[in-house]
Amino acid sequence: VIRIAKELFGSVPTRLVPGHPIAGSERSGVCASNSELFVDHTVLLTPLASTDKEAMSTVECMWQSVGADVKSLDPQHHDAVLAATSHLPHLLAFSLVDTLAGEPEHREIFEYAAGGFRDFSRIAASDPTMWHDIFNSNAPAVLEVLDRFTDGIERLRKAIETGEREAVLGVLTRAKAAREHFSEVLERRACGQQKRHAQKVDQVKKVDNMGSIQYAAKPGGPLNGAIRVPGDKSISHRAVMLGALAEGTTEVTGWLEGEDALATLQAFRDMGVTVKGPTEGCLTIHGVGLNGLKQASGPLYLGNSGTSMRLLAGLLSGQAFGVTLTGDASLSKRPMGRVANPLKLMGAQIATEEAGTPPVVIESAGRPLSAIEYKMPVASAQVKSSILLAGLYADGETWVEEPAPTRDHTERMLKGFGVQVSRKAVSQGVTRIGLQGGQTLKATNIDVPADISSAAFFLVAATIAPGSEVLLKHVGVNPTRVGVINILRLMGAEIELTNRREIGGEPVADLLVRSAQLKGIDIPVDQVPLAIDEFPVIFIAAACAEGVTTLRGAEELRVKESDRIQAMADGLLSLGLSVEPTEDGIVIHGKGQSAEQGSKAAIFSGGDVESCDDHRIAMSFAVASLRAADTIVIHECDNVATSFPTFIELANHLGFDLHVSKCIEQP
Ligand code: S3P
Repeated sequence: VIRIAKELFGSVPTRLVPGHPIAGSERSGVCASNSELFVDHTVLLTPLASTDKEAMSTVECMWQSVGADVKSLDPQHHDAVLAATSHLPHLLAFSLVDTLAGEPEHREIFEYAAGGFRDFSRIAASDPTMWHDIFNSNAPAVLEVLDRFTDGIERLRKAIETGEREAVLGVLTRAKAAREHFSEVLERRACGQQKRHAQKVDQVKKVDNMGSIQYAAKPGGPLNGAIRVPGDKSISHRAVMLGALAEGTTEVTGWLEGEDALATLQAFRDMGVTVKGPTEGCLTIHGVGLNGLKQASGPLYLGNSGTSMRLLAGLLSGQAFGVTLTGDASLSKRPMGRVANPLKLMGAQIATEEAGTPPVVIESAGRPLSAIEYKMPVASAQVKSSILLAGLYADGETWVEEPAPTRDHTERMLKGFGVQVSRKAVSQGVTRIGLQGGQTLKATNIDVPADISSAAFFLVAATIAPGSEVLLKHVGVNPTRVGVINILRLMGAEIELTNRREIGGEPVADLLVRSAQLKGIDIPVDQVPLAIDEFPVIFIAAACAEGVTTLRGAEELRVKESDRIQAMADGLLSLGLSVEPTEDGIVIHGKGQSAEQGSKAAIFSGGDVESCDDHRIAMSFAVASLRAADTIVIHECDNVATSFPTFIELANHLGFDLHVSKCIEQP
């Protein structure tokens, strides 16, 4: 359109606003008209630098008035994107139907064609003249994407011909994962119309895809029953990483199908690793060996997951290819210098934004990394793990010294994969962990225990809701993770560990918890790294305790998915508690009175709280509802799906009264 306008007028008129409504069907003509056609559909405007601003805004208003969602794009970019998303699928559908119609047994093919053929060929019934014009006018972009498709189909053909089953499976599993990854976006487009007017949808079933999720947490309880919370997030990340680097096939069970672990999985699929699943927590990972990863075609997007980004930064620093790691708005604000700096000392070519934040850009070092001995300034399992994973690609023995014990899942799992990892005690609480580079990982099977960080919500919930008794089954009780149990017991909680056993190198137990009156304490500083993710819900316990609880030495909480000290302080204050946030902790004046032992006296008022898009803040305030005078409305709870996608179902099963709705922004 732009080219023809230029030919006709000598230059493109400034008041011509080129654009493209992405709406329609295979039907054309006046009988196919639909007054709702543009509602919730995208219209792409492709203005030039010379396009008149006022004309542009008039056209924008016109499209918006028929319900469209207007975006602008550079014209060339528009042609390339549409060639891939629309023109190529139409070309393939026309060509497939034409080929099959020309087969001698075409009658039977069409007679017995099932849903697959119907779905794939629907668009071959589109208007031939229009599509003829489109293929011709956008020929360069269509040919470019067609060539890439032809290469892909040729590779698939060859893999089938030569019996390379893993390569075939690789294409299919990657495609399935990508389709599922994007299905929410695709469905949002397709179903936008029906969903537009829905104000509130009761969840527990399934909610629509628009707007952000909010919880209405009504005072519930008591809690009773036995549950198994989903798999451990830290172990789930590591299972994919080490399984991918191993030689052979790793089977994983109990894997957490949460968004963070799925982001790690997608990253490895993008780097050519074939993974079957997840199906009900089971994954089959076809390892590619230490040097078998391939360069992804674009940046690796890691969503909300700090663990994925920090561990991958180390693991990918020693590859023969470059890579860029990106994340969502919250992850894009989190500190990555803590891994980039030691990795640079190992010779990695790694860069962050000036503030030390993502994206993390890694160029291939072009040679093995150099082993280092590194004293961590902060006690961080992510930093330790990142350096150890880079150490696999280093010349020599890499050592990391931790100033206090941090979770040791990486070391345990590396041993499970046959890697030799050494430990040396330096002084009280200070340990050095080391490994020799170049060691081969041998595939193994992994049973992921239930996540103690998810169980923690119910440890506190059953403790504060009078008359409760809950059994949490198969929970990982690695000594580097049990800070929450230690702290709650110091406060007077009744938690019993039964059926202790070891599964795949990780200690596991069933946790029986009964309600108890808590008292405020000074939280021992040595417990901080062992309970780092559980503090938001420990603060809820502290609010229900008698007396004052003080936390110090926990400045790390300020750089988690949100500033957890501030987010919890704000929420607690608005629910009527008296709290004082400090630089590195908080002071909470508990409202529990020993005289009220066993009583249901409310600790929290009802009201609105912000989760700050942080999964653990959202779930913690849901727990507070068990001792609230009225409903607590918690905003922006979508990220609960990053670590605990079944939280609502399990909580309500035990006796919570949680309702989920979508908050729809008014146009
Ligand atoms: C994690 C380590 C912890 C924790 C995070 C997961 C891990 O972070 O907060 O949720 O899997 O190694 P730090 O190591 O930064 O303390």
